[in-house]
Amino acid sequence: MRYPLVVANWKLNGNIKFIKTFLNNLSINIDKFVHCNIVIAPPCMYLYEVNKLLKNNKLFLGAQNSDIYMYGAYTGDISLLMLKDVGVRYVIIGHSERRLFHHETNEIIAKKFFAVKQNGLIPILCIGENEKEYNNCQTEIVCKQQIDIILQKINIDAFRDTVIAYEPVWAIGTGKTPTPKRVQLIHKCIRDYLATYDFDIANKVIIQYGGSISSKNVYDFSIQPDIDGVLVGNASLDINEFIAIINNVIASKKLI
Ligand code: PGA
Repeated sequence: MRYPLVVANWKLNGNIKFIKTFLNNLSINIDKFVHCNIVIAPPCMYLYEVNKLLKNNKLFLGAQNSDIYMYGAYTGDISLLMLKDVGVRYVIIGHSERRLFHHETNEIIAKKFFAVKQNGLIPILCIGENEKEYNNCQTEIVCKQQIDIILQKINIDAFRDTVIAYEPVWAIGTGKTPTPKRVQLIHKCIRDYLATYDFDIANKVIIQYGGSISSKNVYDFSIQPDIDGVLVGNASLDINEFIAIINNVIASKKLI
């Protein structure tokens, strides 16, 4: 049984006051969140602060990025050892904003993925097509290529206890989304592809959807059998909206 995972990706937002109010409100509701794991991924500046307040076994700390090197002369970088030290459990890898604004290639992302696994943390590997690729019906090819690079650099075992977030780039922060049925087809295609390597790993891998998720549309996505929760950007900055998203995911999966 795959339990859904809901991730709040705060991106470059938040401050100490926001964090305290947000996590206080979240913890008041926590007992209702049955069989659903929740990750809060604040800017790395606030990881330590968030970890102090995440005193619940359904809530996990996530990092939005990591570096490849563990220590040394890399000014401005943050290592996985440091992330582990402050309680991080999940690391978002290959987000389209990192690919775009920081020129992260599939090669770099594969190295980061490998480093995250080696350090015993859980990667959330973001994959997905851009608008041009979508219009050219290349979604499946692009997703497979982004997975293939990991398979080539490591092997199918890389996907054991791993999360994939399918995030069409054109849907991120735009208010536009593919239909839930289309996302189901893509997720099934990703799972079937991994199953050609190892059925058990494919069956257990968590495949989230991300891109303009809100409390209004999340139910229709997460009711699909191969959509195992959501990666939420903008809507995760509003605590009431975020709680409604979690409740709708739980309701859609008929977990209580
Ligand atoms: P969004 O962002 O929910 O604001 O579209 C999603 C993401 O970037 O992961």
